[in-house]
Amino acid sequence: MEKKVFIKTLGCQMNEYDSNRIYDSIKKIGFEKAKKHDDASCYILNTCHIRDKSKEKVYHEVGRVKKLYRKKKKPIMIVAGCVAQAENSEMLKREPYIDVVIGPQSYHKINQILKSFTEKEKKEETDFDTIKKFEYFDKIKNTNNKVSSFLTIQEGCDKFCHFCVVPFTRGPEYSRPFDKIINEAEELIKNGTKEITLIGQNVNAYSYEKNSKVYKISNLISELEKFSELERIRYTTSHPRDMTDDLIECYSINKKLMPFIHLPIQSGSNKILKLMNRKHTVEEYLNIYDRLKKINPKVEFSSDFIISYPGEKEEDFNDTINLIKKIKFINSYSFIFSPRPGTKAAELQLIDDEISRERLIKIQKILFSHQLEMNKSFENKSIDVLVENKMHGQNKLFGRNMYSNSVIFAANDENIGKVIKVKIESCNQNSLFGKIANSNMKAA
Ligand code: SAM
Ligand code: SF4
Ligand code: F3S
Repeated sequence: MEKKVFIKTLGCQMNEYDSNRIYDSIKKIGFEKAKKHDDASCYILNTCHIRDKSKEKVYHEVGRVKKLYRKKKKPIMIVAGCVAQAENSEMLKREPYIDVVIGPQSYHKINQILKSFTEKEKKEETDFDTIKKFEYFDKIKNTNNKVSSFLTIQEGCDKFCHFCVVPFTRGPEYSRPFDKIINEAEELIKNGTKEITLIGQNVNAYSYEKNSKVYKISNLISELEKFSELERIRYTTSHPRDMTDDLIECYSINKKLMPFIHLPIQSGSNKILKLMNRKHTVEEYLNIYDRLKKINPKVEFSSDFIISYPGEKEEDFNDTINLIKKIKFINSYSFIFSPRPGTKAAELQLIDDEISRERLIKIQKILFSHQLEMNKSFENKSIDVLVENKMHGQNKLFGRNMYSNSVIFAANDENIGKVIKVKIESCNQNSLFGKIANSNMKAA
């Protein structure tokens, strides 16, 4: 049998990193990447459970695979990720097309599962073996060679916000050993990576103790900065409670740390934050913002908002709008509350659909206008762009500025992997468009 794998990744950056590592693993037993999604002998769907829609998408996707392979040999169908963890053997009952269900902390077992696979035997692996998983991944090379790469430093969550499934799908907080992270970063940089984004569900809660010294995310940032070939450092997703002084200090000391922070607040109302069990207040959040702006005026924020959390009154919603107007987040995610099974908020009284939709539209209008305003501020200016790749099917390059805005411009492929000056000529809400500004750089 030709061993070809197609991995489709849904959800967050954690899943994207995991999918790459799953590929690094199964490559060892002869699997190659399938060029097309209907040409695989093993189809892996890496899933997200954060909202109900994300979960339903999974069964929809499996149905699509079923259709794609109707006239071909059925691939080994593996469902990985957070839905696999949450639904476990139920998935095998609901959709017999699925052969294997594997949770995010069991990926070290994937080669064994594939080696012993028989069509008759269904498999389910959903133990929380985070340490074993990373010990295994530490032994195999990270072959990712993207200009901008994710690097998991922390997994899981102990905070238990009442709306969130993550503590149940990813398990308790675990921080990887400091030296293993640095070794992996070195590997990525040797492969050509110029930007590393440290990732974790609570990335700034990173804490690793060795010989009675505690290493924090600030230590990781300073250590990464020493790699001369590395241009940029980012991290995501952080929690306001873990924005410690040492991390805030990094924004004045560490020149490679980009001045852009994704710091979810969820609501601008203290009453709602309390009901959500967020364990921080609006005032504490504003204090972090003020301190960061003082230490580095270039710092900009983005955030996540949950609209119509049970109990959200018009005045609470207005508090969120006021906070948004105060901070002017340059990019944000906002979704209507979606009850998740097993969480404390699952049984609470929902807010009327129409009111929720109206609130979402209202809030997004303001968020998008701030986004556009920010993008417009770059017009007619030359900005630093890290060039990531060529645009699919176009003679244009794609890169990002310091705030992670997409920048699209015409230039020669030789610029990929470099930080170059791009003169911005126009923009829309999502992207900036321009031309190469540096006269010694080659245009297309
Ligand atoms: N750890 C991060 C934090 O503390 O903010 C967030 C991680 S979570 C994977 C990403 C985002 O999903 C959250 O910030 C929240 O806005 C959103 N989210 C989580 N559960 C949700 C739910 N039940 N309904 C709607 N949005 C949800
Ligand atoms: Fe979910 Fe983040 Fe809250 Fe943890 S801190 S429960 S990941 S929203
Ligand atoms: Fe989704 Fe799991 Fe990430 S629920 S957002 S894939 S941690």
